[in-house]
Amino acid sequence: MAESMKGMKRTHRCTEVTEQMIGQTVTVMGWVQKRRNLGNLIFIDLRDRSGLLQLVFDSSNVGEEGFSKAATLRSEFVVAATGEVIARSGAVNKNLKTGTIEIKVTELRILSEAQTPPFPVEDGINTKDEIRLKYRYLDLRRPELQRNLILRSKTAMVIRNFLTEEGFLEIETPILGKSTPEGARDYLVPSRVHPGSFYGLPQSPQLFKQLLMCSGYDRYFQIAKCFRDEDLRADRQPEFTQIDMELSFVDVDDVIDVNERLLARVFKEILDVDVPLPIPRMTWQEAMDRFGSDKPDTRFGFELKDISDLVKDCGFGVFTGALANGGSVRGINAKGQGKMPRKKIDALVEFAKTYGAKGLAYLSINEDGSYKSSFAKFMKPEELDAIVQRMEAEPGDLLLFAADKTSVVWTVLGALRVEIAKNLGLIHSDEFKFLWIVDFPLLEYSEEQGRFVAMHHPFTMPVEEDLPLLDTDPGKVRAKAYDITLNGVELGGGSVRIFQDEVQEKMFEVLGFTKEQAQDRFGFLLDAFKYGVPPHAGLAYGFDRLMMLMLEQESIRDVIAFPKVKDASCLMTNAPDIVDQKQLDELGIAIAQTKEA
Ligand code: AMO
Ligand code: AMP
Repeated sequence: MAESMKGMKRTHRCTEVTEQMIGQTVTVMGWVQKRRNLGNLIFIDLRDRSGLLQLVFDSSNVGEEGFSKAATLRSEFVVAATGEVIARSGAVNKNLKTGTIEIKVTELRILSEAQTPPFPVEDGINTKDEIRLKYRYLDLRRPELQRNLILRSKTAMVIRNFLTEEGFLEIETPILGKSTPEGARDYLVPSRVHPGSFYGLPQSPQLFKQLLMCSGYDRYFQIAKCFRDEDLRADRQPEFTQIDMELSFVDVDDVIDVNERLLARVFKEILDVDVPLPIPRMTWQEAMDRFGSDKPDTRFGFELKDISDLVKDCGFGVFTGALANGGSVRGINAKGQGKMPRKKIDALVEFAKTYGAKGLAYLSINEDGSYKSSFAKFMKPEELDAIVQRMEAEPGDLLLFAADKTSVVWTVLGALRVEIAKNLGLIHSDEFKFLWIVDFPLLEYSEEQGRFVAMHHPFTMPVEEDLPLLDTDPGKVRAKAYDITLNGVELGGGSVRIFQDEVQEKMFEVLGFTKEQAQDRFGFLLDAFKYGVPPHAGLAYGFDRLMMLMLEQESIRDVIAFPKVKDASCLMTNAPDIVDQKQLDELGIAIAQTKEA
């Protein structure tokens, strides 16, 4: 039978009890981590969100009844205990914050009993993800997840404080809205009052924050829930949180400045890590050319080198074929990996194929300077020497090449350099390498849609001197857009926005929107701009991604209290689920196809 807390009041969390308090009486409450019976003594490790504290029971202090009660305690029982803080009678536990003390209990109450949990509540257990997510409330008791959520809360506070000091106002924007043009699929919510009409859940507060600038709020921020119906990955959830901001009367450098100081503050206060400022900037073009990625991991080398010009007349059809199709041949130098066994190289080829490569060509340089290669036989010695020189290769190195459409080559080698670095143990999660990527292309051509689409969104300002290219060569126009990347992850992104009618109209034209379509989708924003719009710019971070990297976690799932799994369902609540016919009727919705059908 559960007892009541009546007359007992918690005085401290477990690890708030310290050596300095020896002799004092305290009351602590929490979960039983472990019980040990030593005949006339019983020890309990008590756990709460702060950590562990040892309770010791002997019948002369807690009485016969209390002692028998203590003997019934099992893991995860919730208890309250009052007693005196004493120096540990047994061995000191150096691994515990409270390892030098214990509580000599005089009163014990069992507030709630517990069934045996499906897995032990401790870190480092080897339990299937599905089980942990089904019992998320138990998994969340683990110290690691508790630390993650506690630091997430602290980080949000540091961010709020910093932005408030910098003159930002926290303003909430609607969840039930009209879809924002961010590129992913929208989650829709049917309207009961307007049968056949739907709200779109926001993919980001983009349009509203721009409207707030029109309304004169000048500097806005929000820790905003966003929803995107896209395929999930380790760093993607269908609902996630942005640290979203927008500023008026600013240009790129102003946004970058405030955000660099924000990041430096957060890393200092939460991790005691100094972020050297300014954070380096790299153009999108340079990032692609050197790293094959617009979010390069710069903790290690293996940079890409273009050898197209050196092989354009060579006898290797794979290379010349790719070049003839308008592609390129590029490679990376896996320094010192010349002795990599054939099997491992084959594994890298298979890995590359999952990124769209048709194959990988390799060349390793033996210690005596001779070559071992899949393509050397098709090349003249001087061609091989030129390649080796371009790749800055020395005896003992392994060179890997991909020949294809340049976008494929980038993707393949970009992924390959990370894979090799991983295999070699060169990636350290406690090293933080920030990088701004700037000068993104404004548009990218969508083969699927047969037109240009906005790389960021249709409100992103082109680089002024590129404006004439909108008419002649839209693919070449650079955008005043920037991403902040950390260790190969896109942490956040933003842009300076278009605020001149003519530019916006031109942009819609290039994107293939008719005036009517543009008015229908974004009319309220375009109208707002007619009543006086300040130049403005903004940025949004993925808060979950920031926390994942700061806390050196593998997935954003580990920094979200109740995450969803790959198919966007919640294993604990079973959402999404079918609903009553009555609910559907009210909404005027008929289900055309069920799963069974
Ligand atoms: P963007 O679409 O780049 O920009 O999103 C900003 C950041 O949000 C994070 N993010 C996600 N995190 C988890 N799960 C997802 N599914 C997910 N999708 C995005 C990323 C990303 O960098 N309105 C613009 C910002 C602006 O222009 O001000 C926007 O939303 O870390
Ligand atoms: P194949 O002519 O397809 O037998 O390929 C000859 C060699 O070139 C093999 O080692 C392939 O792995 C490699 N290879 C094939 N396609 C490519 C490509 N697109 N880029 C680089 N190497 C390739």
